[in-house]
Amino acid sequence: MTPRLPQGVLGLHALPADHHEGPWDSIFVPGDLKDRLLRHCVLVLRHGRRLAQLAGPPHGLVLLAGPPGTGKSTLAQGLAQRAALAVSDLGATTFVEIDPHAFPSDMLGESQRAVSRLFHETLPELAARRPHLIVLVDEVEALAVKRSTASFETNPVDVHRATDAVLAGVDALRSSCPRTIVVTTTNFPAAVDDALLSRTDFVAHLDLPDDRTVRRIIEHSLAEITAVWPAASAARTDIAAIDEAAGLLRGFDGRQIRKAVLAALIARDEVAVDPGQLTGQDIVTAARTVATRNSPNNTAATGLPDHATV
Ligand SMILES: Nc1ncnc2c1ncn2[C@@H]1O[C@H](COP(=O)(O)OP(=O)(O)O)[C@@H](O)[C@H]1O
Ligand SMILES: [Mg+2]
Repeated sequence: MTPRLPQGVLGLHALPADHHEGPWDSIFVPGDLKDRLLRHCVLVLRHGRRLAQLAGPPHGLVLLAGPPGTGKSTLAQGLAQRAALAVSDLGATTFVEIDPHAFPSDMLGESQRAVSRLFHETLPELAARRPHLIVLVDEVEALAVKRSTASFETNPVDVHRATDAVLAGVDALRSSCPRTIVVTTTNFPAAVDDALLSRTDFVAHLDLPDDRTVRRIIEHSLAEITAVWPAASAARTDIAAIDEAAGLLRGFDGRQIRKAVLAALIARDEVAVDPGQLTGQDIVTAARTVATRNSPNNTAATGLPDHATV
């Protein structure tokens, strides 16, 4: 039986762990963004205690911002594993996934109390178990709503109090547990509270994939398919088809690109029965279907995400 998790905690892991390998290498971003992100986390996890003596110590707060489907959640998962691996000579890391939607503001004061409990009790207790702590708050805008724009119709006071509790909690966590990293993600940076943004040490903007990244995502997806069905390597080596598909998928997010490659597996009856039969032409067909059905990054055109119509 899995033990009951504390309120607001979606997942609890001891890292590094082999089964957490994979996400980091599956996300492609231009330049050295991933290296810098990892270095920042390793610095705070290793030297948080000494850095705390500085006049402007880091908060250990990282924000991954960008449109939906650009790899933020996956990168955050991968970052936790890789950072834990890089400090494993000093001991293990507790990785906590927070559910930002677990703090409903429909009872006055209740969400504030729950958020306070999370930062002042739950997380310090978890931090005490191992030398390092990494906390993931996916879709942080649900938790730390920008106070200047929060609706005054829906429990405004409670929204503000919950955001205040997050800020106070982040500050408290920094001083009580300096070897802690809090990774946050958002699809809407404009909705994240300014005081939280100002405490953020490292903001990584993940954009829609550029041309080279589109290709890399297609190639990686095909490599994964070929690992399971080696006969599909014919598709993987059809450079002209991959080029054409990449051109068609320009402007789509990473999730849609991966789904387009999956959709190639249902391009023909034979491929669905035996994915080893996959050809470059199937990938082009699937990419064309996706590209003509949805204009890039505009699922609102059909009102349906692509996968709902595959
Ligand atoms: N830049 C990228 N490189 C490789 N895969 C990507 C990229 N962006 C998104 N993906 C893929 O899209 C899917 C959704 O990613 P996810 O991390 O949930 O995005 P987000 O949290 O930004 O909405 C995952 O399968 C991921 O592998
Ligand atoms: Mg996400």
